This record gives sequence, structure tokens and C-alpha cells, in this order.
Amino acid sequence: MPAGLSVADVEAVYDRVGRVQDAHRFYEAPALRALRTHAAFHRAEAVFEVGCGTGRLAADLLRDDLPPSATYRAVDLSATMVEIAQARLASFADRASVRKTDGRLRFDCSAGGADRVVAAYVLDLLSQREVRTFLKEAHRLLAPSGSLCVTGLTDGRDLPSRVVASLWRGLHRARPAWVGGCRPLCVRAILAPDRWRVVHHEVVTPWGVPSEVLVARPL
Ligand SMILES: C[S@@+](CC[C@H](N)C(=O)[O-])C[C@H]1O[C@@H](n2cnc3c(N)ncnc32)[C@H](O)[C@@H]1O
Repeated sequence: MPAGLSVADVEAVYDRVGRVQDAHRFYEAPALRALRTHAAFHRAEAVFEVGCGTGRLAADLLRDDLPPSATYRAVDLSATMVEIAQARLASFADRASVRKTDGRLRFDCSAGGADRVVAAYVLDLLSQREVRTFLKEAHRLLAPSGSLCVTGLTDGRDLPSRVVASLWRGLHRARPAWVGGCRPLCVRAILAPDRWRVVHHEVVTPWGVPSEVLVARPL
């Protein structure tokens, strides 16, 4: 069960939100830029993304960062999001695929078959138990030289971002659907230190909205 909403509720919210999800760009873009800077996508050959939404990050990576030989596989719970992402990635159809899932955090991919596993603003809508399940699965999917690449809402660092995080948490408690089921979370604190080595971690706070950027290697 996700934090605050059932899987069916999350699916309904994102089916409804659709393309409007890209309006969150004003606070997501700096974190996604930082992720692209620190995750060496130019050396990736097989990317797997969970909760790709409209496929915006996938399109940016395929166009600007990934080698032409790299493949991109993505899944999303929302049929609307899958449709939008498939249309957006149509020109990369020979190496990019987007599939609808039922929200399960076990994926039909071979162990060690990915060198980047990406989750952007997805783990922050899962319960801590589900985040642990996802991290276990990401560990299984990643090749030894691969990287886990995460961005998401997190705790604030200065006064304005602490206030925003606290208001966000309050709104999530009262009306989780209004914030897409997402709330501030620190994924770094959940990573098992004997399973992961953090190679980059920062918090960016555009417009006072705090986002965690995390790149970690499996041990
Ligand atoms: C806040 S949106 C983020 C979308 C995109 N990654 C971005 O950065 O704009 C969360 C996305 O995760 C998807 N999602 C939520 N729970 C999921 C699950 N258990 N499995 C796959 N996708 C999920 C939602 O349908 C939605 O598209």
C-alpha cells in the first residue's frame, strides 16, 4: 500500500493528472538536471525507469545523454501516463519501450540486466516498506557497475524549504490526492549501507521545494 493512497487511488490520480504532471517542472527540473550531471548516462547501455510519467526524462536522456546504442525500458501504473510517454518516445521506438504495470515492485527483467535504474518522484509516494522492496529489486536488476538514480521530495535544508516540506506533509496527511500521494522522504536514510555505496547525494530547493538527488552503486 502506498503512503496515504491505495494503488487504485494512485492509478486514478495519475490517469486524471496526465499531461498536467509536467507543470511540476518548476521544482523538478533542477533535481533532474543534477541527476543527469552525476549519473554518467553517457556511459549507460541499458536504462530501466519505474514511474516514468509522461516520459519527459526518458526523452531528454535519449535525445541528449545516452549513447545511440543504449536501450530504455520504462514502466508506469497509469495507462494515461503510458500512452503519453509512448507517444513522446515514438521516435525512439527502436530502443525505448514503455509498459503499463499493476504497481507491483517486482519487474519482468533479468538480474543484472540494467546499468541504470531510475526513479524520479516515485519513491516519495510509496510506503517505507515498499521503498525497501523497490531497493531490493533495483539491486537485483543492476549490473555490478550500474547505478541507482533517484530524485524525489525530501526534508528541507533551510527555513523556506523546511516550511514548504512541513506544509507539504500536512497537506499529504489531510488530502493525499492533492499532492499526487507524494510527501517528503529521505531515501538515503533507507538505503542499507552494506548493500549500497552512495556516490552522489544533494538536496536542491528551487522555489523552496526540497528535492533529494541520489546516485548509489550496488555492493
Ligand atoms: C509524481 S509522478 C512522477 C512522474 C515522472 N517520473 C516525473 O518525474 O515527472 C509519479 C508517477 O509514478 C507512477 N507510479 C506510482 N506508483 C507506481 C508503481 N507502483 N509502479 C509504477 N509506476 C507508479 C504514477 O503513475 C506516476 O506516473
